[in-house]
Order: sequence, then C-alpha cells, then structure tokens
Amino acid sequence: MMLKGEYAAKEAARLLSEGHCVAIPTETVYGLAAKATDPQAIAKIYEAKGRPRNHPLIVHIAEAKDVALWARDVPEDLQKLASSFWPGPLTLVLKKALTVPDEISQGQDTIALRVPSHPTFHAILRELGSAVVAPSANPHKRLSPVTAEQVMDGLEGRIAAVVDGGRCELGLESTILDLTRDLPCILRKGPISRIELERTLGKKVVQPTQHSVRVAGNMKAHYQPKAKVRVLSYVALKSLMEVSDDPKTICLVYSDEAIRQAAIFGVRHQLMPKDARSYGRELYHSLAMADKSDCDYILVEAPPQDEDWLAVNDRLLRAEG
Ligand code: TXA
Ligand code: MG
Repeated sequence: MMLKGEYAAKEAARLLSEGHCVAIPTETVYGLAAKATDPQAIAKIYEAKGRPRNHPLIVHIAEAKDVALWARDVPEDLQKLASSFWPGPLTLVLKKALTVPDEISQGQDTIALRVPSHPTFHAILRELGSAVVAPSANPHKRLSPVTAEQVMDGLEGRIAAVVDGGRCELGLESTILDLTRDLPCILRKGPISRIELERTLGKKVVQPTQHSVRVAGNMKAHYQPKAKVRVLSYVALKSLMEVSDDPKTICLVYSDEAIRQAAIFGVRHQLMPKDARSYGRELYHSLAMADKSDCDYILVEAPPQDEDWLAVNDRLLRAEG
C-alpha cells in the first residue's frame, strides 16, 4: 500500500504502533521502519529484507537528547557532532545502554544512532511517540531505494506500506562514524566527509579503506543492481563505444568528451552530474532506472578520485561486486 498526502504520517504511525513494518522516506534513502521497542516488529524487518541476523540496525531518534535512552559512556565529541550535523546524514556508533534489545544490536556492545532530517519522518516519530529502527528499504544486497516506487519494486507484498515522500534529497546512505575507539573512525563513507568531521571535532578522524566491523555496507558485493556494472576509464569506455551499440547496454557518462562520443556512436547513455553531491543523488536512481529498462550491462565512466567523490566511488566499487 502506498501512503501519500496529509494523513500518510498518521496512518504510518498507526501501522507501526500495531507492529507492522513501514517504509518511510529519509533525506538519504528510504528506510524500512519498525518500532524500536517492539522486538517482534523488528524481526519482520530481517524477514522482509532477507537480511542476515548478524547485521545490527540503526535507531532513528527525534533529537540529540534521546541519545541518553540508547547509549552509555557518551563521549564529549557527540555534542559537537550533533550540533553540527543533526538532523542529517550522520550515524554515530556508541556504547549501547544495557536496556537495548538484542534484536537491534545483534550481539554487539554498541548502538548506531541517527537523527534524520526528513519532515515526514519526524511527523511519524511524533505521532508514534517512539524511536524507530530503519535499515535501507531494499532486499539484502540490492540497491537502496530513493523513491517509493523503487521500494515497492523490491519489497511489495513483504511490507505493510510505503509512505511516498518523493525523491530522496541526498540519494546515498548516511556516513557512519564509530565513537567507541581511541580515535573516531569512519565505518561507512557517506554525504558527510572526513574533512568536515575533523573540522568540527578539531582532531584526526580515521578512515580505513578496509575494516572488520560488521557493517552490511562493508561487504564487497553490496548495493547491486541486477545488471552487471563495470566502471571504466574514459579511454576504455570510448573503445567499447566504438565497437558496440548493444541496446541492452547503457553508459553513465559525465565528462564532455564521453557525452560527445556517446552521441556520435549512437550508444544508449545517461548524462550524470559533474559535481560529487549531485552525482551521489543520481547514482542509485540511475542504476535503478537502468534495471527497470531491462539492461544487461551498465558501463560507468569512472568519476574523479578526489576526496569529495569517496562515497560515490565506494558505492560504485560495491555495485561492481
Ligand atoms: O542513511 C542511512 O543510514 C539509512 C537511512 C534509512 O537512515 N539507513 C541505512 O541502514 O543505511 P542500513 O541498515 O541499510 O545500514 C546501516 C549499517 C548496516 O550495515 C549495519 O550493519 C551498520 O550500519 N550498523 C548498525 N549498527 C551498528 C553498530 N552498532 N556498529 C557498527 N555498524 C552498525
Ligand atoms: Mg542498507
């Protein structure tokens, strides 16, 4: 069921209070929500997504002061980060409060918390009067949805409803920062960069290329469309364009040269933005559209390698598998 308009938040809150899972919009991607104090509802999330049990969930809270309900030994850094980035696309990992149900933390001693910024999300939290857990609203390993239709394409028949809040503003999952170590450590790259975090904290933030923490987004093959994704340099892409105009292949191009070549050779292509933020907003949407149009291959012109592009390049690497 697709919920839209004035009463959508009320209806979503009613379904959540009755123990159902409901997909709801956030500024990053759509989340599949369940009431955070309802272990049976939480179990339904794992079932609907086909998500392995050992991947813990993010608790979405209404405001920073609710951190005290979920975490203990909260470091001073939290206040600085919350003032600068909440509500917004930053998830913080803290030592969990002893009362946190194991259905959320899945055996870990930590808890991931985020205050999202989407107004509809807040309307639902207000109506429900409780925090919600919400992983991205996609079947396990698939692309995170950025529209209500994409949620339905992946989960129809497996969830009670989706609230249609239009296209997600950011289009990539939140940055996850672990505050339980000696130095803050980025577990998942996202819309908020290491540089922004370091500026706010006035200290070094670690950003390992690989780590062993159980983050689903930490698996090499993740966030995948059905079509095969290949990321290629402009030069490699150009030589492929010269020899093939297979209608089941689409090229995602952003440089002027690649756009020109695609037009000259008559290959199917989609123009991608030139700045990292807008590119991030379009990425999952473009991959989902390519899938919808029955492509076998998605050839992606490799974006720049600068720091700004880390989250985009990270997701592309995982989409390639
Ligand atoms: O932008 C987002 O963060 C979206 C929206 C819906 O808020 N949510 C999202 O949730 O991406 P999910 O579950 O798809 O990804 C969260 C990741 C998972 O890989 C999970 O394993 C990890 O966060 N995670 C959750 N709790 C954790 C913890 N205590 N320590 C380390 N990683 C944790
Ligand atoms: Mg996810």
